[in-house]
Amino acid sequence: MEKARTAVIGCGAVSKNHGKALSGSSFADLVYAVDIDREKAQAFSERFGGSVLTDYRDLFDKNIDVAHIVTPHNTHPEIAIDLMRHGINVFCEKPLAITPYDAERMVKVSEETGMRLGVCFQNRMNKATVEAKKLIDDGVYGKIMSGMVLVAWDRHGKYYSESPWRGTYEGEGGGCIINQSIHTLDLLDYLTGGVEALSGFDAKLRDTDDYVVDDTAAVLFYLKNGATAVGFCSNCYPGSKICTVELRLEKAVLTVKQSGLTIEEENGNVIFHGAEVLKGEKSEWGVSHGIMIEEFYRSLAENRPFIGDCHTGLNAVRIVNAIQHSRGKKIKIS
Ligand SMILES: NC(=O)c1ccc[n+]([C@@H]2O[C@H](COP(=O)([O-])OP(=O)(O)OC[C@H]3O[C@@H](n4cnc5c(N)ncnc54)[C@H](O)[C@@H]3O)[C@@H](O)[C@H]2O)c1
Repeated sequence: MEKARTAVIGCGAVSKNHGKALSGSSFADLVYAVDIDREKAQAFSERFGGSVLTDYRDLFDKNIDVAHIVTPHNTHPEIAIDLMRHGINVFCEKPLAITPYDAERMVKVSEETGMRLGVCFQNRMNKATVEAKKLIDDGVYGKIMSGMVLVAWDRHGKYYSESPWRGTYEGEGGGCIINQSIHTLDLLDYLTGGVEALSGFDAKLRDTDDYVVDDTAAVLFYLKNGATAVGFCSNCYPGSKICTVELRLEKAVLTVKQSGLTIEEENGNVIFHGAEVLKGEKSEWGVSHGIMIEEFYRSLAENRPFIGDCHTGLNAVRIVNAIQHSRGKKIKIS
């Protein structure tokens, strides 16, 4: 496979996951590190490689094949559209955009230009997700009867003060739902065959000036297969990093976590397939960034669909948006 010439745009917190996947990789040459903050680009470049730039538009005449967008949420649409219009494929961090309108514009430009637009839902590549998806699609335990999503994280203080775009509707587009829970909401959608409609509430429950956005939500999901699922998502659980999708099938309950897949069979057997788990700060990002990024490049080289394509990204933004606007009313996802 010929190596793609690659740039990373945005050299903040999660860029190291992209840097690790790209440096010394057999599928990409990391040739530019871009950040409006030169020091951040410089630090990234020293650790992972690439020449420093402070304006992504300087990439346009540099014969770049792929750019990773790892910048604040509100910047994704403009940068992605600009890159695709200049013949550069895009691997974008979640969420694709803050609004469905902007995500739709991005999908349209991808289709018009023929440039790839992938989104980083790396938890789709987690071992537990892959195994659960196969069991469900093969019908091993029958149909999905109901489901549950639980996201219980802790986000306050330094997390917001170190990056001022976070915690604001203008920069982040919301809080717990659009930023932390979007991965687990995407997994529910992916594993069950899709969310058709939902009703829910989101709110800011914590008494703090750290942020103005939502930190908690409760949701009822109507799945395309006729079943329902419930969801509870919060950034107010001190010290915790729980992300769980539980699915009740006809003959077993599947519990999908980063730590592995638990299968409780109807005869009482409990089977656990453990997975590699990170420990310490930011361990909630998991181990699958590298696998997802490699799959993006492989699917590009082999001209086959990517598991995190732009429609996946758009759909997740629609689910987020529906939760934010539901106020208890049933909203169709379309
Ligand atoms: N997939 C995951 O698990 C995961 C985890 C964390 C963050 N993220 C996502 O990654 C993105 C970045 O998050 P973060 O926590 O690294 O943010 P951050 O604030 O730590 O870093 C963002 C960087 O982008 C730079 N930047 C801002 N505007 C820019 C522009 N126009 N051009 C170039 N650089 C620009 C900033 O200077 C900063 O260095 C967000 O979309 C976030 O939701 C994904």
